[in-house]
Amino acid sequence: MVTGSAGYIGSHACIKLLEDGHRVVGLDNYSRGNPGATTALERFPGFSFVQVDIRDRSKLLNVLKKNEIEAVMHFAAYAYVGESCHTPLAYYNTNLVGSISLLSAIAEAGVTRIVFSSTCATYGEPPADLIPISETCEQRPINPYGRSKLAFEQVLKDLAESDEAPHGFCFAILRYFNIAGADPRGRVGEDHQPETHLIPRCLQAALDDHQVITIFGTDYPTDDGTCIRDYVHVDDLVDAHVKVLESLKPGDGKIFNIGTGRGYSVLDVIRACKKITGVNFRTNNGIRRKGDPPVLYADPTCIQKEMGWRSKYTGIETMIADAWKWMLKNPHGYKEDD
Ligand SMILES: NC(=O)c1ccc[n+]([C@@H]2O[C@H](COP(=O)([O-])OP(=O)(O)OC[C@H]3O[C@@H](n4cnc5c(N)ncnc54)[C@H](O)[C@@H]3O)[C@@H](O)[C@H]2O)c1
Repeated sequence: MVTGSAGYIGSHACIKLLEDGHRVVGLDNYSRGNPGATTALERFPGFSFVQVDIRDRSKLLNVLKKNEIEAVMHFAAYAYVGESCHTPLAYYNTNLVGSISLLSAIAEAGVTRIVFSSTCATYGEPPADLIPISETCEQRPINPYGRSKLAFEQVLKDLAESDEAPHGFCFAILRYFNIAGADPRGRVGEDHQPETHLIPRCLQAALDDHQVITIFGTDYPTDDGTCIRDYVHVDDLVDAHVKVLESLKPGDGKIFNIGTGRGYSVLDVIRACKKITGVNFRTNNGIRRKGDPPVLYADPTCIQKEMGWRSKYTGIETMIADAWKWMLKNPHGYKEDD
């Protein structure tokens, strides 16, 4: 079962699992996801979809039992840092209460394997000497989004050590950095409303000359003065999920950072987007946003060594090119397909 299957990463994970020959039940309440993503997934014979809220424990239990679910990839969440500061209750309600409801249904149904989408936002603003960030870096999130994800990490660890866990229970926590790109074959892509991620924002600006990209801070202590982030192709990310899921054995509790170990500045990304699209879209310089650390990138050594996972798409340009391909085909996102 894939929760959040109508969302950006969940839909890509479904395709990967289906292509690997698994049967997949996608689950989403469409609060943030797209029915068009479900339509794309329903082209695969092994896929079925249920519209359920993860807070509805009894419906979840029904779905888990009826479909004889063996493992869960849990992507469903609210995932906007800024929004989480304005509506923290909604974030704790979905990301923590909802995830606990899911976990409790999983335990009752006797499902033993879960892979949970966590985030580098659980690390907060690590000091410069702790970058690149490894899994042992202290987790001090600075917003409700990061705190809601960290709280559920702890729930997973506590359950695993208790008698409430089903026999053979195992879990993995994957802390992603910035995910980008789209299915290289263009079947699904990124369509967030509103879009806050830099790459799709730039691509939207390349399509619509009314849009201007604001660079939040040009006075950071980096070479070009803009923030540096670690971008991972969504195809690499879902590959990591499958590798980790397949490796899980009873009693395991694996934790991995998912990044490339290489950072790109905001200006690097803008330059690459202009190159790929051939459009010199407009930008302006704005002030820093609260809570944006200057440099964040992962130390991916752990997953590389333990899982043999490595990002296939190391350059930012392939990620941008795949996202651009999707956007040219779907300039209004999934809307036309709904
Ligand atoms: N996109 C990134 O760069 C990134 C980085 C770090 C972590 N993550 C994590 O990865 C996961 C997926 O992110 P995404 O970018 O695909 O987000 P997304 O918003 O595209 O997808 C999330 C999906 O969850 C669904 N959902 C939300 N609340 C639900 C509920 N109560 N019941 C059922 N479904 C519900 C939404 O409708 C949506 O389809 C999230 O958990 C997010 O925190 C994403």
